[in-house]
Amino acid sequence: MNILVVGSGYVGLVSGTCFAELGHKVFCIDIDEKKINSLQSGKIPFYEPELADLVIKNIQSQSITFTTKLAESLNQADLVLICVGTPPKQTGQADLKYIFQAVEEIGKNLTKYTVIVTKSTVPVGTAQKIKKIISKNYNGEFDVASCPEFLREGSAVKDFMNPDRIVIGTENQRASDLSNELHEKLDCPKLETNLETAEMIKYASNAFLATKISFINEIANVCENVGADVEQVAEGMGLDTRIGKAFLRAGIGYGGSCFPKDVRALHHVAGQTGYPFQLLKAVVEVNNQQRWLFYKKIKDELKCLENKTIAVWGLSFKPDTDDVRESIAIDIIEKLVEDGANVKAYDPEAMKNTQEILGDKIQYCFTADFALENADCLVIITDWDEFKLVKFENIKSKMKTPLIIDGRNMFDGEKLSSQGIKYISVGR
Ligand SMILES: NC(=O)c1ccc[n+]([C@@H]2O[C@H](COP(=O)([O-])OP(=O)(O)OC[C@H]3O[C@@H](n4cnc5c(N)ncnc54)[C@H](O)[C@@H]3O)[C@@H](O)[C@H]2O)c1
Repeated sequence: MNILVVGSGYVGLVSGTCFAELGHKVFCIDIDEKKINSLQSGKIPFYEPELADLVIKNIQSQSITFTTKLAESLNQADLVLICVGTPPKQTGQADLKYIFQAVEEIGKNLTKYTVIVTKSTVPVGTAQKIKKIISKNYNGEFDVASCPEFLREGSAVKDFMNPDRIVIGTENQRASDLSNELHEKLDCPKLETNLETAEMIKYASNAFLATKISFINEIANVCENVGADVEQVAEGMGLDTRIGKAFLRAGIGYGGSCFPKDVRALHHVAGQTGYPFQLLKAVVEVNNQQRWLFYKKIKDELKCLENKTIAVWGLSFKPDTDDVRESIAIDIIEKLVEDGANVKAYDPEAMKNTQEILGDKIQYCFTADFALENADCLVIITDWDEFKLVKFENIKSKMKTPLIIDGRNMFDGEKLSSQGIKYISVGR
């Protein structure tokens, strides 16, 4: 099939590339000329494991092309996948301006029957609004569909190629058949629903995962008061197949471009319908509080932060990505700087993106080891695997004081203290 992907960011680029790999002919467009220029020469604008090789392979086989011109590729496409951003407004509501801009342009340039599929995460009712906008601009036949994307940054290609499920929301057989044909080669359960249900499944899924994280973080906070170990509590809970192990890792809370905005957006949608979603309100509050409870551990240990040197490991919102959107590291570092500390930061991939936000407020180090030199404390914010490889002897010999405050429970506290390193983590 011929597919036009609108928006070549994380979701658009990964989806487009994977669909090309699965045998479709893909045109990826974006309004960001710089991004398209770099993609045309095979350069990926962000870090995502496995993606670069796949993009280059599919450029070479001419299965994927990148352009800024929507009209030219639109009239060749059987399906259009909308993958533009849906950032939060101040109120928490999803800002749909990029969706509507894209859809208006699609409507103005349609020349034949096409299915317009939304992959972006959008509030319930958006597909119907898309339909109206296209109808205003185009008299011919078309359909809309909702196939929300569930990939995770850091394992996006793997997730896309091996999904747990595919949700296909449509209004009629023709759109359903074409949407099914698009996903034919992906072997997983395919759930067919109406448009509204498909849109809701995505929000409900992210809100539930965020709830699990806030839940285990509250358990961790209680564990600290009663002398229990949250890691073992989570293990004991996770062995129950009704609960499951995933997303029960206590820490400093969730960040990133999806959970914070999607939880707030669902809370907002519910409120607008007259239903106050109390559980989600608490999920957000607990998540916001968790980073400051962690910060208090740093303050309690160091007392005064003025002129203290703090090594920070991990800047991205999670490992294996360079994405720092709503990364908790940024909040923690800004507060450390405000309190007078000198921050030496290291991240395997996210230094450039962090520098765009924090500028020269902090020192950027080339290695994790280098960040440790002369530090009064090491603060771990993102659990990159490479941090596990750093030798404990190095930690001790390089730091002014061998003190680790770990927001991701990466290490075994007993092992570290037997080597003379003070180790403070979350919920144990
Ligand atoms: N990032 C994730 O892990 C993830 C996972 C699942 C779902 N989602 C959802 O997918 C959507 C996209 O997220 P993302 O992280 O890929 O965003 P992104 O910011 O990385 O990419 C969006 C792209 O759309 C482009 N764009 C905006 N308006 C356009 C237009 N009119 N025409 C063409 N291109 C346009 C932007 O320039 C940008 O490159 C969001 O709704 C998000 O919630 C994201």
